[in-house]
Amino acid sequence: MGRLDDRVIIVTGGAQGIGKAYCEGLAGEGAKIVVADIDTAAADALVRSLTDAGHEAMSVVTDVSDIQQADNMAKVTIDRYGRIDGLINNAAVFQRPSMSRVPFDQVSVEEWDRLMAVNLRGTFLCARAVAPYMKEQGEGSIINISSGTVHFGAANVAHYVASKAGVIGFTRVLARELGPWNIRCNAIAPGLTISVEDPDEARLEGDRQRMQARSIKRSELPTDLVGTAIFLCSSDSAFMSGQTLAVDGGATMR
Ligand SMILES: NC(=O)c1ccc[n+]([C@@H]2O[C@H](COP(=O)([O-])OP(=O)(O)OC[C@H]3O[C@@H](n4cnc5c(N)ncnc54)[C@H](O)[C@@H]3O)[C@@H](O)[C@H]2O)c1
Repeated sequence: MGRLDDRVIIVTGGAQGIGKAYCEGLAGEGAKIVVADIDTAAADALVRSLTDAGHEAMSVVTDVSDIQQADNMAKVTIDRYGRIDGLINNAAVFQRPSMSRVPFDQVSVEEWDRLMAVNLRGTFLCARAVAPYMKEQGEGSIINISSGTVHFGAANVAHYVASKAGVIGFTRVLARELGPWNIRCNAIAPGLTISVEDPDEARLEGDRQRMQARSIKRSELPTDLVGTAIFLCSSDSAFMSGQTLAVDGGATMR
């Protein structure tokens, strides 16, 4: 028996990287997985590998920054599975697609707006899309993916850090507003995580430097984040809401 047997969980940006690890880990605990990603080929490949392994999964092509597509993601999930127990708002402009790393005054206004549209508005749109179904059920768990850069401070990614700080504020408001329906809302702040199979030298160097700041002196991998996601989706965290859990090897402490 899994801790998430028959729970229906949507993972945005679930096709690759850390999102894929969430999908695999949650499926391993018995959840039915909806992979909502802009990359159709990668999402379909993941669904095939999950179903081949005996899990229940489907993909829905979703650009989280688009109102209709976010609403459609929730509707298609209800049509197929009849309920939505969890939403992990993980999709972001981060490395797929990649963002610029430049001083704040060199970030183009267009890129600033695109990061806000995907990372922050997308989180809002997807929460808004699932909330009516969760209210009707009288339960649900929404998990918003922020970033350790908000607490750590990170130069040259002002647009990204601002969007992820917004995610934490939004999480707290959602927790207050949806709590009366027994819908919990929490955030995870991952540390720098090696989420591509072939990291370039710049990323490896960044990882070596970040390791010095950690209490646990090793690289962070996507699988390091999965246990926290399972916990927040499960009834083990039934009385927790509005929290931001840093999963970064003890780099930041609050
Ligand atoms: N990897 C890290 O070091 C790190 C650290 C802190 C926080 N995070 C956060 O964790 C999450 C996952 O990180 P990752 O490294 O796996 O990211 P990634 O860039 O490798 O993957 C992002 C996923 O989101 C999808 N996506 C992009 N735009 C989308 C859109 N508009 N609609 C739907 N899907 C879209 C991509 O296709 C991809 O599958 C992100 O929110 C990221 O900001 C990552």
